[in-house]
Amino acid sequence: MSEQEIFRSPKKRGRVAVLLSGRGSNFRALHDAMREGKINADIVLVFSNKADAQGLQTAKERGLETLYLDPKAYPTRDDYDAIIVEELKKREVDLVCLAGYMKIITPLFCQAYRNQIMNIHPALLPSFPGLHAQKQAVDYGVRYSGATVHFVWEEVDAGPIILQAVVPVYQDDTEETLAERILKEEHRIYPEAVRLYFEGKLEVRGRKVYILD
Ligand code: GRF
Repeated sequence: MSEQEIFRSPKKRGRVAVLLSGRGSNFRALHDAMREGKINADIVLVFSNKADAQGLQTAKERGLETLYLDPKAYPTRDDYDAIIVEELKKREVDLVCLAGYMKIITPLFCQAYRNQIMNIHPALLPSFPGLHAQKQAVDYGVRYSGATVHFVWEEVDAGPIILQAVVPVYQDDTEETLAERILKEEHRIYPEAVRLYFEGKLEVRGRKVYILD
C-alpha cells in the first residue's frame, strides 16, 4: 500500500475465519467475545493445516464449521493458499484471524485479503518477531514484553500494528511463565481489535493504523 492509500474497516456484521495450528486459546477468546455479543461478527470457518489441532476439536464441539487441508497434498505453497482463499471466498469471509497458525501466508493470500488478515504475536513488535518470541524476550533480558495484534502483510510479523499490550518480565521468568502472562493480554486485545474492525473504527494509512472515535 502506498502512503496515499487509506483503508477503513467496514462497519457491518462480520464473517470471520480463524486459522490455527494448535491449542486454539485465542480462537476461544474470540468466539467467547462473539457469543457474549461483544463483537459484531460470527465465526463462519475454523481452518487448520493440522488434523489434530486442539482448536479444531474445540471448534467442532462448539458447533462451528471446520476444515482441515493437508499441505503435503499440494505441490506448492501457492497451490495450498489458493485453495484456502477459494474456501474463504466461498464463505464470503470479511476477516481472517490467524491464531497460532504456524504457516507463513503467501503473497497470493495476502493480496487476496489486503487489510483483511490479522495476527496475534506474543511480543512487542518489531521486537522479537518469528518463533519463540517469549524465549527471545527472556534470553535478551528485556524488562517488558507483551502482545501485538497487527495486520498481515507479505513480510512476516511486519504489518501495521493495531493494538499492543505490555507486561513486565521478571528476573526469574522462564519462557513458560512469561508466555502465560502474555497470553492473558492476548485474550484481551485480540477480541478488542476485531471489535474495532467491525465497528468501522480502524483506518490504515501507509503502515500506520488509526483508531477512530
Ligand atoms: C499465541 O501465543 C500467539 O500469540 C502465537 O501462537 C500462540 C497461539 O496460542 N501466535 P493459541 O493456539 O491461541 O492458544
